[in-house]
Amino acid sequence: MRTLLIANWKMHYGPMKAGGWVRAFRRERLPKEIDIAVAVPHVSLAAARASLGRASIPALASQNSFWAKEGAYTGEVSPDMLQEFGVQYCLVGHSERRALLGETDEMVGKKAAALQSAGIVPVICVGENEAQNKKGEVNKILRQQVTAALAGLKPEGKTPFVFAYEPIWSIGTGKACPAQKAKEAHEVIRAAIQKKFSASLADKVRVIYGGSVDANNISEYITTTGVNGALVGGASLDPRAFAFLCRTANPA
Ligand code: 13P
Repeated sequence: MRTLLIANWKMHYGPMKAGGWVRAFRRERLPKEIDIAVAVPHVSLAAARASLGRASIPALASQNSFWAKEGAYTGEVSPDMLQEFGVQYCLVGHSERRALLGETDEMVGKKAAALQSAGIVPVICVGENEAQNKKGEVNKILRQQVTAALAGLKPEGKTPFVFAYEPIWSIGTGKACPAQKAKEAHEVIRAAIQKKFSASLADKVRVIYGGSVDANNISEYITTTGVNGALVGGASLDPRAFAFLCRTANPA
């Protein structure tokens, strides 16, 4: 299975800066053996696309999408609109959106299904908060979030969907989740996929880890069985540093 690394800029870099990041990143030596994507704010998609030209590395990703095709949904962006920029992946249900904007499991499931129908790979973010972790509720929370997200998804396609395990207590805190704990969480996610679909699909779906990933700990994650890549926030903001992280992650 190919390793997948996604840079998540979050709310950084508007159109004036996005093109510069892409150009600087592309000047670096980039491993072809792994899949690399960059999730940019909607307003920066055009600039990132223009700087990429026909180049396919990094793949373009979005940080969010609405579920309807079009209509009276002020401020929202549809999967078809993202398609026009050649977006290949879209984050769904990031914990920041769940916490700050009230995204529910049901909304996350609708978004994931709509993206898949439009030919964009949903990258569904799941993960427990600190209190849930302390109470030993990790598996329960993951099963609940994953099952809801899978509700409208289809098992077809080369890469039907991706899950990102992002324990909330590890996001932006420098408290990276121990790789062994991430492995256990990924197993719970895979078990839920197997329950809904099949063992062969569960084996095929990439489950990536996110939360304080950097160039120092990336190797530990991607050499852990069942961890198929990473979703990188803070350590993706500098294009050269992120390129170095990508090279470090390349097993070749
Ligand atoms: P950090 O890498 O900054 O901890 O962010 C993780 C994240 O939320 C990626 O989506």
